[in-house]
Amino acid sequence: MAKLTINADIRLSTIDRNIYGHFSEHLGRCIYEGIHVGKDSPIANTEGLRNDVLEALKQLEIPVLRWPGGCFADEYHWKDGVGPKEKRKRMINTHWGGVVENNHFGTHEFLRLCELIGTEPYISGNVGSGTVAEMSEWVEYMTFDGESPMANWRRENGREQPWKITYFGVGNENWGCGGNMRPEYYADLYRQYACYVRNYGDNRIFKIACGPNVDDYNWTEVLMSQAARFMDGLSLHYYTVPTGVWSDKGSATEFDEKLWFETLKKTLFMEELIERHDTIMTRYDPDKRVALIVDEWGTWYNVEPGTNPGFLYQQNTMRDALVAGINLNIFHNHSDRVRMANIAQVVNVLQSVILTEGASMILTPTYHVFDMYKVHQGASLVAADVESPSYEMDGQSIDQLSVSASVDVNNRLHISLCNLHHAEALEVACTIRGGKVSNVAGQVLTSDTIQSHNNFGEPENVKTSVFNNFRIENDQLIIKLPAKSVVTLGVNV
Ligand code: AHR
Repeated sequence: MAKLTINADIRLSTIDRNIYGHFSEHLGRCIYEGIHVGKDSPIANTEGLRNDVLEALKQLEIPVLRWPGGCFADEYHWKDGVGPKEKRKRMINTHWGGVVENNHFGTHEFLRLCELIGTEPYISGNVGSGTVAEMSEWVEYMTFDGESPMANWRRENGREQPWKITYFGVGNENWGCGGNMRPEYYADLYRQYACYVRNYGDNRIFKIACGPNVDDYNWTEVLMSQAARFMDGLSLHYYTVPTGVWSDKGSATEFDEKLWFETLKKTLFMEELIERHDTIMTRYDPDKRVALIVDEWGTWYNVEPGTNPGFLYQQNTMRDALVAGINLNIFHNHSDRVRMANIAQVVNVLQSVILTEGASMILTPTYHVFDMYKVHQGASLVAADVESPSYEMDGQSIDQLSVSASVDVNNRLHISLCNLHHAEALEVACTIRGGKVSNVAGQVLTSDTIQSHNNFGEPENVKTSVFNNFRIENDQLIIKLPAKSVVTLGVNV
């Protein structure tokens, strides 16, 4: 039995909506096919963007979408992607499969996508192979209202009003695919490039510096000591690779309970990473002004057999649902510092919420977790003390229960619980202090097997259902979580 004490009246940080952000890169079938099919496609679309995907993304209430990369961002030259489509430059996507990129999806198309799904854009600028002028002109093109070469060009290209752009990343993975830089060198470049990322009119840009690769604490140290005052956010990238070996990461669908356990253990490392990077950041920024932006996270497996290795297409099982639930709980619980996160990637790449095949589209278990958890967006995190039994495998041990809780503007408490055990149910005795409990309702995501997933033949193998396996006993809420499950409960307090 696990014990949980929730103090509904002890409000901690606000859970920033942007923790529910996504990432879309010119990689494999994410942009082309997954989102953009072109106006002449037989697939139903709005201005070339597929309607089924637009609808599914709208339903998810995605707060922010990152684009155009990833590694692609540091070789993307935005000017190639505006103006008449037939005149746009064709380039090679050297990072991802060596395919031809025809630039038919560029700035206007991305920002239109954001308008259609009601999300805020997060643009990644090119530091690795682009110039300061090019980055500066991109911002001018998108956000300047007056008379200027870039604003005039935008108007010629069909957009009269400037867009509102808040989030702008100055480079991506500049320690790796974005230029193999040392932190000292990047910190100086960041200061230079960021200086020319201007605020025009009343548009205010939130500048995000490239942060560490996983546990490169020295990168954080150098960036914070040399450039903290010039940034609003510092990114962090951490992927869950089940085997820990990049050359053979493990299959998305064929794994046993040992690899299930190993995957969840690896994903829990996110907590230590956030705590240790936060400790360094706090030395330079005790008021936590600079946000930690986890703008790439999620599972990374071997690609599906028979698919292009450069396209990073993978299936998504109940294991991915647990990974999503656990990470979102971690982000909530650290929302005083983590104020944006972007799961990689939104459609057809890595841990996607949506998969497409021709005209068909399916929602993955990860989609359902984002849908169940969206009640936490913008709510107040409340204190939750967890006493969890251990989940053990081959002499290793992790907590069986992962939890977070928040109270929304209507005073409704939302509790998210993940039972990590592959085979054992878990009873949770939950004491809720600071409110009178009533009107409890729940949802659950679980499955027959740990490998269960949705595919184009069986799109609803894994789906949410009503959860009512709870009772009130001696002022406690007794909750029985099925094995391998993600549960959300709403409670009036
Ligand atoms: O998401 C796939 C790739 O992973 C991104 O392009 C890069 O930033 C990271 O290494």
